[in-house]
Amino acid sequence: MSTVVLTIDPREPQAAVIEQAAVVLRRGGLVAFPTETVYGLGADALNADAVHGIFAAKGRPANNPVIVHVNDVAAARELTTAWPETAARCAARWWPGPLTLVLPKAAHVPSVVTAGGPTVAIRVPAHPVARALIAAAGRPLAAPSANPSLRVSATWAEHVVHGLNGRVEMVLDGGPTRDGLESTVVDLSGPTPRVLRPGPISLDELREVLGPNLDTLELQASAESGALPSPGLLKKHYSPTVPLRLTDDDGAKLVDSLAAPGRKIGWLPLGDVAPLHDATRIVCLPLPREPAEYARRLYATLHACERSGVVEIVVQRPPTGPAWSAIHDRLSRAAAE
Ligand code: TXA
Ligand code: MG
Repeated sequence: MSTVVLTIDPREPQAAVIEQAAVVLRRGGLVAFPTETVYGLGADALNADAVHGIFAAKGRPANNPVIVHVNDVAAARELTTAWPETAARCAARWWPGPLTLVLPKAAHVPSVVTAGGPTVAIRVPAHPVARALIAAAGRPLAAPSANPSLRVSATWAEHVVHGLNGRVEMVLDGGPTRDGLESTVVDLSGPTPRVLRPGPISLDELREVLGPNLDTLELQASAESGALPSPGLLKKHYSPTVPLRLTDDDGAKLVDSLAAPGRKIGWLPLGDVAPLHDATRIVCLPLPREPAEYARRLYATLHACERSGVVEIVVQRPPTGPAWSAIHDRLSRAAAE
């Protein structure tokens, strides 16, 4: 299969382009499209064969369920058998937007979508291209991040093409995504809301709406003991193809000691650094000190590093604090052995 890339206006998507993509989706094909978080690899969520195609294209293990994207609360409610008050409050505050809710699944949601489990993850995206595509396809779209399984998510269309060329029928190129990190995932199917994945919506914001009793801690533990509340919590995930280390200082000394001719090292310090040295040994790509801007640029910077042929990446650990927690989550998974 050759992958067709169509440029699309991210603010006012052209109807004719959207329709071409919708045709592919309606007949069970795969279309990658931008959302406000990262690019998604979309298929008709109610067509089990089409969703199997997503797993095959990504090399995704069958035990990792995918998120279903719809345009409004009414469509979300059709996918679930329960709509608790907590869901109503979250939807009112954050949809459309970068929040995914896990709820009991309705019978007609194919089991491949939920990896055989009793719950379904649902999100109403804000990106105009995603919204137009869902509307034109006329059905919910299953869409994990548009990257090979375990690799860094795509925040530009060219990342999708690089990772999935020949495995996806069409890519809608709407430019870079706004948030740069995957949505916050909250499980509302149990007695206490549980945050399964930190993201653009912070824990503090979630507590404003869901109350102080958010469940977050035991997750890591249970993910490590093998019972997976959400496979995105697997320790190693979002990884570049080369090893990544985190440093507490700016990393300059370490980088200098690791780098050698023919052994290029990627260096991602924070903020401005003294102009660097030796481009044959070191690829220096500083990241911003402001968390939203850091999040927006992190994955593109990791992709750029990978493609420049480095053998290892050294990342200066960013500051701590609530605004950085999703970033720390992704970095520590990327660094996991
Ligand atoms: O921002 C995003 O969420 C992007 C865009 C494309 O919407 N999608 C995304 O999908 O990041 P993916 O498949 O890469 O991550 C979905 C996460 C995974 O950690 C998956 O295990 C979890 O959501 N998940 C999906 N369905 C679930 C379910 N029923 N119960 C628990 N976790 C679920
Ligand atoms: Mg993913």
